[in-house]
Amino acid sequence: MITLALSKGRIFEETLPLLKAAGIEVLDNPETSRKLILATNSPEVQVVLVRASDVPTYVQYGGADLGVAGRDVLIEHGLDGMYQPLDLNIARCRMSVAVRDDFDYAAAIKQGSRIRVATKYTQIARQHFADKGVHVDLIKLYGSMELAPLTGLADAIVDLVSTGNTLKANHLVEVEKVMEISSRLVVNQAALKLKREPLRRMIDAFAAATTS
Ligand code: ATP
Ligand code: PRP
Repeated sequence: MITLALSKGRIFEETLPLLKAAGIEVLDNPETSRKLILATNSPEVQVVLVRASDVPTYVQYGGADLGVAGRDVLIEHGLDGMYQPLDLNIARCRMSVAVRDDFDYAAAIKQGSRIRVATKYTQIARQHFADKGVHVDLIKLYGSMELAPLTGLADAIVDLVSTGNTLKANHLVEVEKVMEISSRLVVNQAALKLKREPLRRMIDAFAAATTS
């Protein structure tokens, strides 16, 4: 049996066409079913539904043989025990620094002020500001980062941006791009040895279906 870890929502939806190209169809709809283990038309493949940030943990420890996770999540977690053979080019967005539209970020940087930055992505943010030589105090949040500059909790946020609508709706502006984000396939290293043939077939089918 091969177990694939996916998160509900955009990663599940955007992985479905890749699975289809590999001849695999998921038999349950996670939006209507409460099941966490989903059968497929292949008796050898099942899908487990986990939180997006839990996908690497499942794959690292072999709770799943492979999974799909954002570059953001993988950098924060690290790649211990996993291979990352493919950029699937799905769930594309960018990681950016944003501030209130009345906050002069350039001036704050120029003055060498210490900036308070709220984010869920502390590793990425720490590295970004260290590379720029900007002094920051990081405040870890688990969601709704956009609220932090509006309430005075932080001067800036590091968060994912796609259309920019969320920033706009909250009177925030993007002031720096940190990195491009897309979702990647990750594979448990031991599983790739033990289940080499079926996993290789699946990786190859995903690669053939992935648009660059
Ligand atoms: P968790 O449930 O673990 O807190 P999450 O709520 O961030 O995770 P999703 O919103 O499903 O989970 O996002 C999954 C992945 O999709 C993210 O890790 C990121 O790589 C990507 N992503 C997030 N927001 C967007 C977006 N607005 N547009 C495109 N891709 C996105
Ligand atoms: C993500 C991210 C931003 C938003 C950005 O959130 O944390 O809040 O998407 O997308 P935008 O630039 O297109 O507005 P989340 O996944 O919670 O939101 P969503 O799934 O509703 O887009």
